[in-house]
Amino acid sequence: MTTMENRPAAGGTAAGTRAAGATDIRTSEPLLRLTWTDPVTGAQGFLVVHTLASGLATGGTRMRAGCTMKEVEDLARGMAAKTATFDLPVGGAKGGIDFDPKDARAAEVLGRFCQAMRPWLDAHWVTAEDLGVPQHLIDEVFDRLGLEQSYHAAIRRAPHPERTLRRVQAGLNAPVPGGLLLGDVIGGYGVAQACLGAAGAWGWEHETTTVAIQGIGTMGGGAAFYLHEAGMPIVAVADAAGTLYRPEGLDVPALLELRDAYGEIDRSRLPEDVQQLPRDAVIATDADILVPAAISYAVTPDNVPDVAARMVVEAANSATTPEAEAMLAAREIPVIPDFVANAGAAAWAWWLLLGYVDADPATSFHRLRTEMQSKVAMLLGSWDVDGTPLRETAWQLASANREVLAESPDVSIP
Ligand SMILES: NC(=O)c1ccc[n+]([C@@H]2O[C@H](COP(=O)([O-])OP(=O)(O)OC[C@H]3O[C@@H](n4cnc5c(N)ncnc54)[C@H](O)[C@@H]3O)[C@@H](O)[C@H]2O)c1
Repeated sequence: MTTMENRPAAGGTAAGTRAAGATDIRTSEPLLRLTWTDPVTGAQGFLVVHTLASGLATGGTRMRAGCTMKEVEDLARGMAAKTATFDLPVGGAKGGIDFDPKDARAAEVLGRFCQAMRPWLDAHWVTAEDLGVPQHLIDEVFDRLGLEQSYHAAIRRAPHPERTLRRVQAGLNAPVPGGLLLGDVIGGYGVAQACLGAAGAWGWEHETTTVAIQGIGTMGGGAAFYLHEAGMPIVAVADAAGTLYRPEGLDVPALLELRDAYGEIDRSRLPEDVQQLPRDAVIATDADILVPAAISYAVTPDNVPDVAARMVVEAANSATTPEAEAMLAAREIPVIPDFVANAGAAAWAWWLLLGYVDADPATSFHRLRTEMQSKVAMLLGSWDVDGTPLRETAWQLASANREVLAESPDVSIP
């Protein structure tokens, strides 16, 4: 059973509502909230379309026991902020299912959810992997529904959808140094560029700028790899089992070799000079940059006094609570907000769909490096002048971009 709130604005179909919702993403009501109940398991699923632009909204689908409408709504708003900050001609949405992804029935539940959401997935909502839902699983579900791939709503708009699908798949599956695929590393690469942009803006040398990273999965692992490659010592990384510390810098490629599918490092094969510390020790590490890349609400008023870093770069969504961010600001520690620092994967997927980047990783890396570093420099510029929180400046940028987009013609997928 599906219930719907916030129907599309009177006078137009949902598809025709461009830049729906006011341009202030922070305060505007979502365009739509849908609740679905699985007829077999009773699990509930949620779709929130925060904003449509050109009749399209983008955002992943997550599955976790305890997932709520509020969580999905916050994440949809975050997606709207990311697309606006990176000036993408598409709005923000999110899907979520309150179900254990390790339950044997998880794939069937996801299939029924997507079947129920089909009108949105067919025409308006471009979804992708998220917590508990790997990309291959959602693509299999789409294939069974006859929608080919989770970017279907965008790809079907192309004049030759089969050609566009091949082009997009070539980009997602392009191999990169380190043995991974471009689509898997690009988000972490973007986080690394946020750190490098900040170091550049403040004149910090790579070789003497130390980094501590909470989480060594897709985002944290990718960020660690590219920061290490750029010459920054990664002095601490944490996974769900604890913190690994080496004040001279960790051998990141070697550690990544020891990761399992859940982003946990095999302790039995650790080099002897790596110290093992409690899990939360990463927050208090003596490093210049702290990158929370695992859980939401990692930095709270309780642990702000422990933060030793001079800057926080949010790879995880909602990594810092608003109160903690204000306390950090009082200590003159800026926070590069999630919807800037971790938006690389979302922005890149749309650059790929729009034909701005291709299967050559160099083109993608160049574009993301340029866009991320210039945004971070701009945000830190305002902070340096009068202490304006980076999040505030980023919201202003997002709203200004949305206003311009409202005047633009519809999106064109080549
Ligand atoms: N993957 C993406 O494309 C993407 C994009 C934007 C934002 N994010 C956000 O980034 C965060 C991480 O996502 P991911 O895809 O890298 O996840 P992941 O599952 O690949 O990795 C998570 C990592 O965090 C570790 N971890 C879990 N709980 C921990 C804890 N309490 N303390 C320390 N480490 C812990 C895990 O061991 C693992 O190393 C999430 O908030 C996610 O929403 C991910």
